[in-house]
Amino acid sequence: MSDRAHLPRLAVLCSGRGSNLGAIIEAISAGTLDAEIVGVFSDKPKCAALQRVSAALRWSAKPGDYASRSEFDQALGDAIAAVRPDWIVCAGYMRILDGAFVERFRGRMLNIHPSLLPRHRGLDTHQRALDAGDREHGASVHFVIPELDAGAVIAQVVIPVQPGDTPQSLAERVQAQEHRLLPEVLRWAVSGRLHERDATAVLDGHTLFTPRRLEFAE
Ligand code: GRF
Repeated sequence: MSDRAHLPRLAVLCSGRGSNLGAIIEAISAGTLDAEIVGVFSDKPKCAALQRVSAALRWSAKPGDYASRSEFDQALGDAIAAVRPDWIVCAGYMRILDGAFVERFRGRMLNIHPSLLPRHRGLDTHQRALDAGDREHGASVHFVIPELDAGAVIAQVVIPVQPGDTPQSLAERVQAQEHRLLPEVLRWAVSGRLHERDATAVLDGHTLFTPRRLEFAE
């Protein structure tokens, strides 16, 4: 039996539905991810993601109530630091983080992004994959650095783009895979197998020159 006091501590940042947070919660309940969620943090106080955890674990604030991005991110960072997380997971956190925030948690902050990075950084990735005529699409988990969606990519899931696909159909298939990808990378992280070194991802002591491509049955 694991001793809860010694479980790796996860802080999760969300802005929306929180289905990736749900996948983390399910993996923990199923006993396949030995970790504890110590806080869920949001820039959208009304988002559905917050409702997935008990009120004691929620922190949210409206950026508009702060004088600047750096003041908001300072408050967010202080709230995160207060729960002493081992890993910080951006799981659908849709607000750009300022450089000081990222440096504060550098090397232990991960993000899940709905594209095969480095393709399609930023927003509207499903539409952009269709517009570009991509034959493959997917999702990536990467270390967060100050440049948006540009940190070392750890692992990816790939789906084929099919004739007749729409941004919605791609989003559905990509997200189903995200829900497998993110807990898997977190398993590596919390078991001490994953590190960021010299701006690269290192798994089991080996630099990942290309991201791990994972396959999960539908
Ligand atoms: C996911 O597709 C994730 O890749 C992106 O935002 C979406 C969040 O979905 N960053 P959810 O809030 O986890 O349901």
